[in-house]
Amino acid sequence: MNRSRANRKVLVLPGDGIGPEIMREVMRVFEFFDRRNIARFDVGEGLVGGAAYEASGTPLTDDTLAEAMASDAVLFGSVGGPKWEALPFELRPERGLLRLRKEMDLFANLRPAVVFDALADASALKRDLVAGLDLMIVRELTGGIYFGEPRGVETMPDGTRRGINTEVYTEAEIERVLRAGFDLAMKRQRRLCEVDKANVMESGGLWREVAERVHADYPQVELSFMYADNCAMQLVRNPKQFDVIVTSNLFGDILSDCAAMLTGSLGMLPSASLGAADASGRRKALYEPVHGSAPDIAGKNLANPLACILSFAMMLRYSFDLANEASLVEDAVRRALAAGVRTADILSPNTARVSTRVMGDTILRELEKVA
Ligand code: IPM
Ligand code: MG
Repeated sequence: MNRSRANRKVLVLPGDGIGPEIMREVMRVFEFFDRRNIARFDVGEGLVGGAAYEASGTPLTDDTLAEAMASDAVLFGSVGGPKWEALPFELRPERGLLRLRKEMDLFANLRPAVVFDALADASALKRDLVAGLDLMIVRELTGGIYFGEPRGVETMPDGTRRGINTEVYTEAEIERVLRAGFDLAMKRQRRLCEVDKANVMESGGLWREVAERVHADYPQVELSFMYADNCAMQLVRNPKQFDVIVTSNLFGDILSDCAAMLTGSLGMLPSASLGAADASGRRKALYEPVHGSAPDIAGKNLANPLACILSFAMMLRYSFDLANEASLVEDAVRRALAAGVRTADILSPNTARVSTRVMGDTILRELEKVA
């Protein structure tokens, strides 16, 4: 299918906390692309999370969901905050995000952990352990314990309560996310590590079986297995041993925070959540920074907009086949960092601390230089 420029439909959902202020900087990159005729998008905006709850009593309206489904890509900021923590579970801001992931069937969550050279010293680990690091966690996103039934809190006959969540994976769910991982590995260093707790969980054993089977279609990829606890340890011991890690929803949640910290800051990490390709090769997709809404610094012009800007770059690459344009953005980020420009979260000796807005200014200036 040949899609014209005007058909690049993007729904922007800034959300709560620092979401709106970091998304404002991304909007300036959209405008720059438009002004310089690099790429045009049809951009709509909507509410999600606490912001949507305040406006309409639900963290995601059916209308916004329908718009997301009809878009080529959703660009998401962050949701949540203390203001909404006492709400019933179903009304909490996070449910808006989880519903988007589930209803759009975004089963493959790509979480790259890339160390920019200029930030290697901001990592909690020694420079030589992380310099040059480039690993990709592929987290299953629509199954497992996040959605499994039965779930809930029930009162037992003796009056005490018990909480229940269930890890459930069908072979089909395991297979499709593994295929996404193998496809990525083929374009990278061709190494895939499947991570589970097969030593205690039957579902983990099934993951291993399916991985062996799918591997037959990707003989050039080296497949290995690791238990999740060991993986957490290996990530901080020797992270460069990994290329692509594929794992379940819960383990991926935990291990990707760990991998994020290797890069120096959670504020640097973008992510993509992808659905299955349809007959025309189009995938539903949502792009979001890995960090949360950081309510403590929200509205203070302190937040790091780079993870959100890098999520925009991932969108260019994965949803619109604009790899060169994605590189423009990533190079602008690299040069801004090399010039010593830092938001508070990635500050190090001999660098200049700037606000969210000034980091945005810097990225735009770097883009102006090359585009
Ligand atoms: C993430 C977050 C979410 C998750 C929360 C906000 C529901 O931690 O995207 O990693 O657990 O998936
Ligand atoms: Mg998380």
